[in-house]
Amino acid sequence: EIQALFAPTLVAWQRSHGRNALPWQNTRDPYRVWLSEIMLQQTQVGTVLGYYQRFLASFPSVRELAAAPLDEVLTLWAGLGYYSRARNLHRCAQAVCEMHGGEFPRSAELLQTLPGIGRSTAAAVASFCFGERVAILDGNVKRVLSRLLAFDGDLASAAQEKLLWQRAGELLPASADMPSYTQGLMDLGASLCSVRTPQCLLCPVSELCLARAQGEPQRLPIKTRK
Ligand code: ADE
Repeated sequence: EIQALFAPTLVAWQRSHGRNALPWQNTRDPYRVWLSEIMLQQTQVGTVLGYYQRFLASFPSVRELAAAPLDEVLTLWAGLGYYSRARNLHRCAQAVCEMHGGEFPRSAELLQTLPGIGRSTAAAVASFCFGERVAILDGNVKRVLSRLLAFDGDLASAAQEKLLWQRAGELLPASADMPSYTQGLMDLGASLCSVRTPQCLLCPVSELCLARAQGEPQRLPIKTRK
């Protein structure tokens, strides 16, 4: 039942209740989507908005970013923190230009080979821009899916994390629904399915949620320190 109902229910909720007007949405330009995903990795949407617009104004495409001096990139990044993100951003732009002719590769598998693009970010870009059927699994999505499935493996264990990636891959909808599905997972994890006080009464998938049925969704996910 989860298999059949989770994706369509989440997709319908995302379209009606999710975030659909952010500046990096309603575009399939991988440069814009990639830039937003890197900025959003450790920074809230509200903070990212201004930085994102200034960044795009200075570097309208990956070619301008690749050609810019690192100093200029770091100056525009100042205040966002985690400066290795900015250095990797610049290196990634140069790799796209030097090794891929200025076009981002169109698969998660190839995107993952670029500097600063991990498995989940590669999947986010590929699903948003190309409709690739590939799972994301960032911190928020680990929480949503471990609760949905009552997955109680310790995510500090690489083997358990691998299992959850596998489960995530089994829930994917058809390609046409991938952008809304991926955004829906992010939106649910950033809003109703919170760490301490999940808002199950408002959640579109509460009737499918196995952790909710067990009565203590905030118990999951489990992650001991390594
Ligand atoms: N955090 C990471 N990716 C995001 C996105 N596409 N929209 C909103 N928040 C995000």
